[in-house]
Amino acid sequence: MINKVIILLVIMLFTISAFCSDPDPVMDFCIAKSTDNSFTCKNSSTATVEDFTFSGIKVPGNFKETGFASMGVNSNIFPGLNTLGMSFVRADFDVGGVNVPHFHPRATEVAFVLEGKIYSGFVDTKNKIFAKVLEKGEVMVFPRGLVHFQMNVGDVPATILGSFDSQNPGLMKIPNVVFGSEIKDELLEKAFGFTSKELSKLKKRFSPS
Ligand SMILES: *[C@@H]1O[C@H](CO)[C@@H](O)[C@H](O)[C@H]1NC(C)=O
Repeated sequence: MINKVIILLVIMLFTISAFCSDPDPVMDFCIAKSTDNSFTCKNSSTATVEDFTFSGIKVPGNFKETGFASMGVNSNIFPGLNTLGMSFVRADFDVGGVNVPHFHPRATEVAFVLEGKIYSGFVDTKNKIFAKVLEKGEVMVFPRGLVHFQMNVGDVPATILGSFDSQNPGLMKIPNVVFGSEIKDELLEKAFGFTSKELSKLKKRFSPS
């Protein structure tokens, strides 16, 4: 009997955690006092509409070497999102621009093509790829934690808007995770079959600058 109850509880817990990413709010809102996701709220009677609006993505950011600029609007830069379980991103692609393979450990993403033509896809845990060219107005979902990527294949700049079911989805870019962290050279050389010269080129390219 007790065993059955425990099994039921475990199943319930898994079900709950499978359907919600961030915890549910217990207040109307909780404008973060600090940007460390510590869930301490500003006195709600001092809140104004400015706490619930954000103007930082009116224009695209500067394109980096991959012809890509993105701005994640999460609770770290928009404290009004704190405890609300969602956030978003604006990403702009120059012609040929690439959003390198990456994943968000804490959120599923839905991306909407605002402008342009974007080859877009993800890979599942069986290494199966799901990818196609999305046109303006189309949407793609990237399941939580799966590696995904995009490239502007049109002949004009492109823009997407992505939304996340977490106030702080996290971003891990595969090249930077692998070559820009301090994983031992010997390990990476063995893992990828690189010579130390090939590896040092990649490390230089993907190290945090
Ligand atoms: C919040 O602000 C209001 C108005 O300024 C004040 O009366 C109230 O005491 C404050 N509450 C807390 C917990 O500081």
